Amino acid sequence: MKLWSGRFTADLDKTAEAFNDSLPFDGAMYAQDIRGSIAHCTMLGRCSIISEAESNTIRAALECILADIENGILEIKNAEDIHSFVENELVLRIGDTGKKLHTARSRNDQVATDFRLYLRDAIDEELALIKALVKTLCDRAEQETDTALPAYTHMQKAQPTTLAHYLLAYANMFMRDADRLTDCRKRLNVMPLGSGACVATTFPVDRALTAKLLGFDGVTENSLDGVSDRDFAIEYLSCAAQTVLHLSRINEEFVYWSGEEFGFISLPDEYSTGSSIMPQKKNPDVNELLRGKSGRVVGDLVSLLTLMKGLPLAYNKDMQEDKEPVFDAANTLRMCLRVFTGFLQKVGFDRERMKRAAAGGYSCATECADYLAAKGVPFRTAHEITGKLVLYCVNSKKSLQELSVEEYKTFSPLFEADVKAAVDVTNAVKRRTVIGGCAPDETKRQIAAIRKKLG
Ligand code: ARG
Repeated sequence: MKLWSGRFTADLDKTAEAFNDSLPFDGAMYAQDIRGSIAHCTMLGRCSIISEAESNTIRAALECILADIENGILEIKNAEDIHSFVENELVLRIGDTGKKLHTARSRNDQVATDFRLYLRDAIDEELALIKALVKTLCDRAEQETDTALPAYTHMQKAQPTTLAHYLLAYANMFMRDADRLTDCRKRLNVMPLGSGACVATTFPVDRALTAKLLGFDGVTENSLDGVSDRDFAIEYLSCAAQTVLHLSRINEEFVYWSGEEFGFISLPDEYSTGSSIMPQKKNPDVNELLRGKSGRVVGDLVSLLTLMKGLPLAYNKDMQEDKEPVFDAANTLRMCLRVFTGFLQKVGFDRERMKRAAAGGYSCATECADYLAAKGVPFRTAHEITGKLVLYCVNSKKSLQELSVEEYKTFSPLFEADVKAAVDVTNAVKRRTVIGGCAPDETKRQIAAIRKKLG
């Protein structure tokens, strides 16, 4: 039964009907739709727009419908959209009283409300998942504050750092993601109900009451905007895209770290797969998928931006297309966060390989230049001298650590025996005690600061 059949004499063409229906995907919002309707009918009763008795009957039936869907007794099917489905079912159960539910409401303000409720729930779940991920990063980092690892620029060894410092870089990214989501939640948490189809309802509704019942912080200020605004969904998708982008970056690290050439990590059996032809293979499929999934979420964002571009006020049916990208992004993001946190708890780190790599590539050349600069040599001159020293190392196939003090002295008389300690990897790490640095104690401070923020 359509909610709008009165002015029609012929049925909708079957193909057009399938094209028009949104139930196959907006059924996912059944819980939010029913919660919204329960609050709406409670308000209608309190404001005497319908009687308290009618309001109670509708509310009780809606609660049963929700329970029946959740228990698998009631299947969501045979309706244009989730709003029609719930209303049809209500009328089936309580007859004409059910037909009063839609008083002072349009599907336009209803869907805008459902969508915000859906996203608010998704955000709450995602915030918990991001926090679990950051906690795992902190847990793993805590054990690795002394594990030397090369830091790269241009994918070339740059300077020694620690694995803890590296992992915490990502913890900081995910903390910003959590901040962004929290901020997005604040802006989306206002209620459009009462906006009606576009110019608000004439009934004496108490919008503040409905908003309060639904946990909204307030109501939308303009009904045209209330029904046509999808900024909150775009903002959400942009947050989601940013998070999957961070996931794609850290998983790219794990992909190449797992290769034989790097050998920094060993993939847990629980999170890697084999090859159908090459028996020796253990592939980082999970990490590659985590890297790849970012593409579809970025696509979801672009899809909604493109959908909304140039849409005039107020509601347009185009906007029905807003849901699939948002649902897809929310589902993908939650799955990615869950699987990655599981991976991170199990991945093995090869500390020896990391340490050996950290000393390679003349990664302590900056230490050498800083050594001279600390003795009063202008940094640019110290840089030049060290550059020559590195060239000497390259030609004589020696590392900076292997050079004798005498060899150092041929480049500058200021070099003394303590230069050997200066170019030591562990010391190079330990000296970076500045806020943000990789010294073990400073890293521990960073971990404590993140843990404090996590609460
Ligand atoms: N399924 C519709 C959507 O998701 C609900 C709103 C329908 N409103 C309308 N005027 N046809 O946008």
